[in-house]
Amino acid sequence: MVLQKRFVLEKHFDGMPKKSDLKIIEEKLPPIKDGEILIQALYLSVDPYMRPYSRRTLKKGDMMIGEQVAKVIESKNTDYPIGTIVTCSPGWCTHSISDGTDVRKVKDFPENLPYSLALGSLGMTGMTAYFGLTEILKPKAGETLFVSGAAGAVGGVVGQLGKIFGCRVVGSAGSEKKIKYLKEIGFDDAFNYKSTIDPQKTIKDMCPDGIHMYFDNVGGTITNAALMNMTECGRIAMCGAISGYNAKSQSTIVHPPIVGRQLKIEGFIVYRWTDRFPEGFEKLKEYISQGKLTYKEHVTEGFDNMFKAFCELFTGANFGKAIVKV
Ligand SMILES: NC(=O)c1ccc[n+]([C@@H]2O[C@H](COP(=O)([O-])OP(=O)(O)OC[C@H]3O[C@@H](n4cnc5c(N)ncnc54)[C@H](OP(=O)(O)O)[C@@H]3O)[C@@H](O)[C@H]2O)c1
Repeated sequence: MVLQKRFVLEKHFDGMPKKSDLKIIEEKLPPIKDGEILIQALYLSVDPYMRPYSRRTLKKGDMMIGEQVAKVIESKNTDYPIGTIVTCSPGWCTHSISDGTDVRKVKDFPENLPYSLALGSLGMTGMTAYFGLTEILKPKAGETLFVSGAAGAVGGVVGQLGKIFGCRVVGSAGSEKKIKYLKEIGFDDAFNYKSTIDPQKTIKDMCPDGIHMYFDNVGGTITNAALMNMTECGRIAMCGAISGYNAKSQSTIVHPPIVGRQLKIEGFIVYRWTDRFPEGFEKLKEYISQGKLTYKEHVTEGFDNMFKAFCELFTGANFGKAIVKV
């Protein structure tokens, strides 16, 4: 018998998540049946979407949603022998049972890279960056790409891909340490939105030809400042709006530049391209192996620290893809 630890929703988040909104439960899992596997989480992902999705999809007592990299530790399914590494989304739990239909083998993974990247640069956030940039913004060499949330899991990959595609890349992030890092990984310029008094002017100074493409991870003030700097017929990929996830009311977007500059704005969810993830995986793997794409992870040790790691997404304490190592 294996003991499963899991986080369940006690109360819907209101503002910044509170520890009392979740509860850890321990429960014995039943023996596996024919066709089933028992899996043990190795790495769990904490992601900003969990904040808005939890309200839409969970009720009290439900397990928090989320993806993990896990190892098969018992098997009655010949497709998944003991030791197989998989990704799956049972939620915030240490162990779970599957019939094999909702898990994906981690295949063709470079030996020198940690499996945790299957949740980051070679997983969901990497795919978000790759398909959001190539399919929505369709970058052309010489254009200026502005990325908000630039030092994060998605933003860091977007910016580096922008450089690979020959763009001028400018980013915003929330600390001097993050700005220094962005310049180290090839951003042409970057600013700390927390200490910048006039972001609209700062962006204008850093993007003298205007912004041709904006990859928006944050929404709010920075997005409005970016909108005011878009070129005629500029393109915007709306990926996320973390600045509003804990807010009581949503910020409004400034309309005049959207119409006046004939901007093209498109929101997207990465799972639009699920059938093309193998292509994204191969491309991102190639860029990493060529040294053109670096990755940064923010690893928190211990399953019980899931909540802490989750909250850090909203204070900016994470620096790179937030991962919890069990
Ligand atoms: N559309 C999709 O399919 C899809 C998929 C994945 C992610 N997303 C979205 O992409 C965005 C980035 O996600 P991620 O996984 O890469 O997370 P992340 O950037 O690694 O972590 C979140 C970051 O957001 C920043 N942040 C927090 N509060 C903020 C605020 N009020 N204003 C501005 N920035 C703030 C913090 O960085 P600073 O230090 O810079 O403040 C924090 O480190 C999120 O909006 C997420 O919902 C969308």
